[in-house]
Amino acid sequence: MKIYDQINESISFIKKNDYLKPEIGIVLGSGLGEFANTVSKKNIFNYSDIPHFKKVSIKGHAGKLVFGKIQNKTIVILQGRYHFYEGHDIKDIVFPIRVLCGMGIEKIILTNAAGGINPKFKPGDLMVIHDHINLMGINPLKGENDERMGPRFPDMSNVYDKELIEIILGIGNSLGLKLKTGVYAALMGPSYETPSEIKMLSILGADVVGMSTVPEAIVARHMGVKVAGISCITNLAAGISKSPLNHKEVTETANRVKNNFIALLEKVIPEF
Ligand code: HPA
Repeated sequence: MKIYDQINESISFIKKNDYLKPEIGIVLGSGLGEFANTVSKKNIFNYSDIPHFKKVSIKGHAGKLVFGKIQNKTIVILQGRYHFYEGHDIKDIVFPIRVLCGMGIEKIILTNAAGGINPKFKPGDLMVIHDHINLMGINPLKGENDERMGPRFPDMSNVYDKELIEIILGIGNSLGLKLKTGVYAALMGPSYETPSEIKMLSILGADVVGMSTVPEAIVARHMGVKVAGISCITNLAAGISKSPLNHKEVTETANRVKNNFIALLEKVIPEF
């Protein structure tokens, strides 16, 4: 079965249930899932119940699709994402994003936990992504292109929408959050980087490093949806940090700044 038809099966399943037609999609990264609890008029689906969605295996990723309202806006949240290092096919990683885009969202906010490379960044900072570098060794658009979803060679010169970036920065400023901006480099993982790899990424122009988001951004642009990205700097990257990296530090830092993160999203969404 073509992916396009699978997407439509997933959408039909969701539509058979009670749901709100979403305007904005949100993907919640490691430790940032709690934002979904702040949404009103919730309607929740487990990924495991939706046709063609794979199982989620990472701690801190719930695996729920949450429809709801933030003030005037109807949103749909992917609470938990798939990572390429889990072993799924790259097409399965981005499948939920395609479903949201197929449901007619106009904008998507991708969030993640990331390691800080830029020496000005500290754990706990939030960074608005203004561009990315795809070093995952794969592209989610590889293989046959289905023109019903998007073009064979989509432009990537403006992946992260400039207007949306300005809105986020303005609101961050009004909340006193001192938001950073920068370039997100995506590697496959799951091992963290070596100090030499981090040095390389720094020379390449990356400000933060992570293992997600980029395939999702590419697919959303493929389907003509506007993208915004926010990284939570959960740790200093390898070699910049004096101590070994671990996932616990990542989730603990995300947890520490989640209130800032939630406050930012709650104010940003009505303005999108
Ligand atoms: N490297 C890669 N991915 C990450 C990191 C990191 O340091 N921190 C959180 N996600």
